[in-house]
Amino acid sequence: METVPTGSPTTARRRTVLRGAALAPVAGLGLAACSTGEGGKAPATPTAPVDLGAESEVPEGGAKLYRDANVVVSRSGDGALKAFSSICTHAGCAINKLSGTTLTCPCHGSEFDATTGKVLQAPATEPLHALPVEAKGGRIVAGPKA
Ligand code: FES
Repeated sequence: METVPTGSPTTARRRTVLRGAALAPVAGLGLAACSTGEGGKAPATPTAPVDLGAESEVPEGGAKLYRDANVVVSRSGDGALKAFSSICTHAGCAINKLSGTTLTCPCHGSEFDATTGKVLQAPATEPLHALPVEAKGGRIVAGPKA
């Protein structure tokens, strides 16, 4: 009967494969917990005006979260628009949930008022950053001018 020594290349290869398999789920969890945006970059506030879409998408007294642009736009009862960066001021995660006019950060649960940018729920302590916004030809454009 032939025996395979414990330090044989076959055993070592098997260990390498098993180690790789054990790490794969950990790497997956790391990605899920991280809030990096497209291409692995950290999410960012627009640095120039961005066309967000039709003005009619933001109802009076309501708000709309533009996840791709990291901007939330609200409209008051008198029709005035306000825009804020939807990058959380606590640790920089991209806020991905809007319920009514309340934004909730997925990372540690901070909540913000989409009509004022104010913090409603810690751990964040700083309000969201306000952005210039205007309705132009029926479109909403938000972000700082160059
Ligand atoms: S990054 Fe948003 S609550 Fe921590």
